[in-house]
Amino acid sequence: MAEYTLKLRRYDPQSGEAPYYEEFQIDLEPHRSVLEAILQVKAEQDGSVGIRCSCRAAICGSCGVRINGKAGLACHTHLDAAAKTGVNADGKTILVEPMGNMPVIKDLIVDMDAVHWKKIQRVTPWLINKQPVPEREYIVPHENMVDVTQTMACIQCGACVSDCLSMEVDPLFVGPAASAKAYRFVGDPRDAEQFERLKDLAEDPHGIYDCTHCFNCIEACPKGVAPMNQIMRLRRIAGSDHHINDRNNGDRHERTIVGLIRDYGLLHEAEMLPRSYGGYSWFAKFHPAAGQELLDSLPSITKALLRGKVNPKIAMFGHRIPKSDLKAVQAIYEKVEGKPRRYELNLYISGYEDDDAPGAAEEPATVAAGGGRMPAGPGPGPHPAAGRGRGRAPRGAGEAPGAPRGTLSPGGRGPTPAPAPAEEPATVAAGGDGMPSAPGPDPNRPTAASESESA
Ligand code: FES
Repeated sequence: MAEYTLKLRRYDPQSGEAPYYEEFQIDLEPHRSVLEAILQVKAEQDGSVGIRCSCRAAICGSCGVRINGKAGLACHTHLDAAAKTGVNADGKTILVEPMGNMPVIKDLIVDMDAVHWKKIQRVTPWLINKQPVPEREYIVPHENMVDVTQTMACIQCGACVSDCLSMEVDPLFVGPAASAKAYRFVGDPRDAEQFERLKDLAEDPHGIYDCTHCFNCIEACPKGVAPMNQIMRLRRIAGSDHHINDRNNGDRHERTIVGLIRDYGLLHEAEMLPRSYGGYSWFAKFHPAAGQELLDSLPSITKALLRGKVNPKIAMFGHRIPKSDLKAVQAIYEKVEGKPRRYELNLYISGYEDDDAPGAAEEPATVAAGGGRMPAGPGPGPHPAAGRGRGRAPRGAGEAPGAPRGTLSPGGRGPTPAPAPAEEPATVAAGGDGMPSAPGPDPNRPTAASESESA
């Protein structure tokens, strides 16, 4: 047993009192979860503590809280791990607060209906099936299922919504969870309204171009859904495949950033607006919309100048980096742009194909489908939940260092996984709770698989 101090944020709107913090001493083994500690407090010290939970196994998504300032599942966070990142240097104090960006109902319970579920409803969270409906089932290519399975792993805990910085600034932003849900259907070949969904989210001033790439949602997600990556996928399909020239200037703005980095190696602030609005020509500099945007941005620019955050000379004339560095940057562009088609490496699921065929053990590893074929063969056994289908291999599992992580699917987005050496067994994470069945990288961290993106 070990002693910990649980510092809970208490708030009861009905009491009329302001929020306050209360400390509780608990005595539990270090491997027990923060949720167990809260429930112990509730059972033995103060029954009025408000916490929502159900499964206690990282499945239902109801116990989302902020632990030491970061959103996560209370039932999926061990006390010793939480204490290490605690607010006090004593290594024993764990701060638990309600999730952010949502109104607090009581103590650690937030109103998911008011924000999270409203946004999910906003993106038409169901399949609009293609017509004519086949006599039997729709046949979905294996790689397309792999592609959308990452978003299907979402348990709607709201952790990403809690820590989304864009939503903090713009509460109307559709947000990471709803965007990931949108990708689940945009990426599904059975859906009939891919274009309409994308157009809607691109044209919405609080849609996919509102994301500022802060990565917080990727860090917060306990299931490796990597919502920000799904937003980037939505943008690429909207801009590159459907050529949706949105009224928010989002697509052009993104292309401008890509172009400026290719030309200068770093951003050239003074060129941003003209290029975003008017393109590359000299006359673009006088595009009226660019002028208007500049006027609107003057307060922020002035603040940045006064606080020394912007160097006027560099902002006007651009950054200079050594020529060799610029060439190295441009070589990356040449390599990516030289590819015949766009790569999307969504390797959320990887491991060995579970094949009963004779000699299968010697076969190289391939990615298992969303249907749940998980690794066979040597090494740590798959989690009992693996057979149910949502496994996730931490970075490098079943892959040789430097080996290509995937190849293009016929559809251009879903991967056809790269073979991995048979002698390197995959370390498979559990489907049900996301906990690894063998030592490996922290499953709470985004894996390379979930991070993998390319132009
Ligand atoms: Fe179900 Fe934590 S209680 S996810």
